[in-house]
Amino acid sequence: MTILTTERLRLEPIVDAHLDGLQAINSDAEVMRYLSGKPESREQTQLMIDRVKERWAAWGYSWWSFFERESGQLIGAGCIQHLGRDPVLPHEIGWRLRRDHWHLGLASEAAQEMARFAFDQLRAPQLCAVCHPDNQASARVMQRLGMAYRGIERWYEMDCAVYGMTRSDWHVACFSA
Ligand SMILES: CC(C)(COP(=O)(O)OP(=O)(O)OC[C@H]1O[C@@H](n2cnc3c(N)ncnc32)[C@H](O)[C@@H]1OP(=O)(O)O)[C@@H](O)C(=O)NCCC(=O)NCCS
Repeated sequence: MTILTTERLRLEPIVDAHLDGLQAINSDAEVMRYLSGKPESREQTQLMIDRVKERWAAWGYSWWSFFERESGQLIGAGCIQHLGRDPVLPHEIGWRLRRDHWHLGLASEAAQEMARFAFDQLRAPQLCAVCHPDNQASARVMQRLGMAYRGIERWYEMDCAVYGMTRSDWHVACFSA
């Protein structure tokens, strides 16, 4: 299972021991505002962990917990998975952070490393991301990564803004960074 590191973060594959840290994020209504729209219970977070562990075992990628290297605290989570959770569909990237760690550029920092993993290690031909059309913070992370807006599509029982980039877009974005 692949651990990724950035300047400020260590991305570790999600395991049972992360329940308390992930629950602190998933139980915050503000974090969940543009996701399911409501806070998640401890049982729902444990079910998410169970699903994610199965995907790590089956695919070799899924969700990571983000640990702040300086404090050792679990401050977020992010993923490389598949759109609609369907392995025949393109790879999808996603993120969420504990609210006291927003606006520090941490989502963009983690996103860069997860995208690098998808393109360089998984050899993904393209990567997409979806968000609620009003979720400006998430859309901004997608744009900063070098993704382009593709339109509105229905995913996860929600009308979503879809962003995407190809492998060659990624290499252009890396080269010009
Ligand atoms: C989306 C989220 C992960 C962004 O995290 P973050 O670390 O604060 O993002 P960054 O600091 O990397 O900021 C990225 C950009 O978004 C902008 N931004 C951040 N919050 C914003 C907001 N509320 N409204 C508009 N823009 C915002 C930042 O200014 C920055 O823009 P810049 O590139 O021009 O400087 C965080 O807001 C979050 O956890 N939200 C709740 C969960 C969620 O919605 N996840 C995404 C589901 S699709």
